Order: sequence, then structure tokens, then C-alpha cells
Amino acid sequence: MVGKRLIMMGPPGGGKGTQAKRIQERYNVLQLSTGDMLRAAIAAGSPVGKQAKAVMDAGKLVSDDLLIEMIDKRLDDKDCANGFVLDGFPRTIPQAEGLENLMANKGLKLDAAIEVRVPDEKLLERLTGRYTCAKCGEGYHDKFKLPKAAGVCDVCGGKEFSRRSDDKADTVKTRLKAYHAQTAPLLPFYERKGVLKVVDGDRDIGLVAADLERILGL
Ligand code: AP5
Ligand code: MG
Ligand code: ZN
Repeated sequence: MVGKRLIMMGPPGGGKGTQAKRIQERYNVLQLSTGDMLRAAIAAGSPVGKQAKAVMDAGKLVSDDLLIEMIDKRLDDKDCANGFVLDGFPRTIPQAEGLENLMANKGLKLDAAIEVRVPDEKLLERLTGRYTCAKCGEGYHDKFKLPKAAGVCDVCGGKEFSRRSDDKADTVKTRLKAYHAQTAPLLPFYERKGVLKVVDGDRDIGLVAADLERILGL
């Protein structure tokens, strides 16, 4: 394996969460999704959640300082010691620079930044069809990833599911714009550092996962 400190990049609906979760389950490195962390803060009604809610519902990006501080603190937790996959962070050049500084301060080295590449026209269908088990968080899709028994979660047997409030078609368009304007410039940033790995994410979930394992030498 090239290492255990990874960044998972890619557009909204590209499959970052799906693939990062697989890596976590198979290789004992922690998936850290900033989107999940922010949604948990909203659900808990914390000050961070209050600050983030309207911005997320609009499909825009939450402030760099807030995100950098959140990751800086989180990486000190014991469960990050064996490695981590950052899912959805960094998303702007200032966040990437912030990550570089905070990792240097902790004596950590970034091993790879993965781009899950998917054409724009595929993303709307992926996002509007996405749903999640309300009990355990397992992700599903109306067309691409159905539970084995209809209406029952494969993992926990739960029967309630939820959809994200930012997966409405209009909001998805704003998220996509934010990705191209603010996040895509990070791809050349990591390429220059020699750590960028690109995976074709426009294929079956299992094929993407297998290719990723090959690319990372897992
Ligand atoms: P976040 O939660 O990170 O959302 P996102 O980047 O828009 O990405 P998604 O989680 O929607 O997609 P994904 O790539 O994880 O795809 P998934 O695997 O689920 O962020 C949400 C918001 O929080 C942001 O808009 C922003 O406001 C804020 N935020 C978060 N981080 C921030 C930061 N660093 N700075 C500032 N603001 C921040 O897959 C999607 C669906 O497709 C699923 O149903 C899945 O089953 C299916 N699927 C997956 N792979 C495939 C495949 N290969 N083929 C077919 N279907 C597939
Ligand atoms: Mg995600
Ligand atoms: Zn479940």
C-alpha cells in the first residue's frame, strides 16, 4: 500500500463516500467525511451546525477556517493513529494549504490524493437516487445499489431510510458549480506534488473499488 494517509477527491456524487467507506472497512484506516461531520453537528444543534446549515442547504461551501480547525482537532484523536481517508476535505486551495501546515506540525506525511473522476452528466442521477439507512448510515441508490431485500438495510436490518436535503436537483447544480470553481483547482495542486492518483469512477462500484486497490497497491 502506498500509505495510509489519503485524500478522496471528486465531484458531488462521484462516489467518494462509497469508496472511502470500503477502504476503511478493509484496511483499518478511518474515513473522515467532513460532510458527515457537519451533518452530525447540525443534528446535534451545535454552534458549528448552526453556522453550517444554511450554507449547506444552499449547496455552497462552509468557511475554510471552520473546516481546517475541525480537521486539525479531529486528527489528534486516537482512532486516526493508524491512518485516515479524508473524504470531502480539502475543497479549496486555502484548505489544502491549511492541511499541509497542520500535518507538518503533527509530523504526518500525505501519501496520496485520489481523484474519483465522473462526468457531470452522470452525477445528477446518482444524487437524486441516493438514500441512506437511518439507523446505521449504509448508503444505497434507487437504481445502482438496492438492498438485497426491498426496504430492509443489508447491514443492520433497519427499515427506515433518509435522503439528504441538499440532493434536490437545484441544489446539486450549485454544488457542482462550487466543485468546478473551488475544488477542481486542487487537482493540479496535488499533481505538482506528485501524489495525485486518478481512478475512473464512471463504472460499477465494485470495479472502481478493485481499480483503486490496484492503484494504491493495497
Ligand atoms: P459532502 O457530504 O462531502 O458532499 P459532496 O462532496 O457533495 O459529495 P457527496 O457526499 O454528495 O457524494 P460522494 O462523492 O460521497 O458520493 P456517494 O459515495 O455518496 O458535503 C456536503 C456539503 O457539506 C457541501 O456542499 C458543503 O456545504 C459542506 N462541506 C463538506 N466538506 C466541506 C469542506 N471541506 N469545505 C467546505 N464545505 C464543506 O455516491 C453517490 C450515490 O451514487 C450513492 O447513492 C451511491 O450508492 C451511488 N454510487 C456511488 N458510486 C457509484 C458508481 N460507481 N456507480 C453507480 N452509482 C454509484
Ligand atoms: Mg459523501
Ligand atoms: Zn442499516
